[in-house]
Amino acid sequence: MKRNTARLCALAIAVGSAALFAAAATAAAQDAEPPAADAGSGILVAYFSQEGHTKALAEAIHAAVGGDIFEIKAETPYPTEHDQLTERGKEEQNAQLRPKLAANVPDMSKYATVILGYPIWWGDMPMPVYTFIESHNFNAKIVAPFCTHGGSGLSRSVTALENKLQGAQVLKGLAVPSRSADSSADDVAKWLRESGITVKASN
Ligand SMILES: Cc1cc2nc3c(=O)[nH]c(=O)nc-3n(C[C@H](O)[C@H](O)[C@H](O)COP(=O)(O)O)c2cc1C
Repeated sequence: MKRNTARLCALAIAVGSAALFAAAATAAAQDAEPPAADAGSGILVAYFSQEGHTKALAEAIHAAVGGDIFEIKAETPYPTEHDQLTERGKEEQNAQLRPKLAANVPDMSKYATVILGYPIWWGDMPMPVYTFIESHNFNAKIVAPFCTHGGSGLSRSVTALENKLQGAQVLKGLAVPSRSADSSADDVAKWLRESGITVKASN
């Protein structure tokens, strides 16, 4: 019981006020520990990457933090030709499609922290990332988002994650321009430190 709640209880007993007893009961309920996370203690780095930049950044983060790494992939691969790729990306976003994934994470309950990476597509996350967050249980997990981008930073992706993952704690995101995706070790280390994510002892 926190000190203010204890004071409220003592005061309620001293003056015998029903209102104060009710207030003390409410305060005690609010003090209660949050429900135990259905999460394990592990770290998962999950990422979507079409052209390799986010993959490079995900691998650097995974090398720093350890744990498991998982690539989010659409069941139907995206075209490699740029115009066709941007066209499909736009069409899927306009329709708010949820493309089927090639695979799911076998056991999300192993992880307390998910470090989630994606490229920015049209100011947002690619639609397979929405499929991913909607088809896995993020309740009580910590989610640390990172992206690579061509100039628009995290755009609206973190707000979207906060809205979608109400049961999770979404941390401040890391945005890395595509051209720096494989040379951003200092930014990654600073972000992990500020996020409170433990880096492997060997790093
Ligand atoms: C379909 C599509 C849409 C994009 N939209 C944006 C955008 O809105 N803002 C931006 O900064 N970059 C945009 N980009 C650039 C990518 O975010 C950037 O190249 C990213 O690093 C690609 O990551 P990847 O190599 O992991 O696929 C877009 C790229 C594609 C293919």
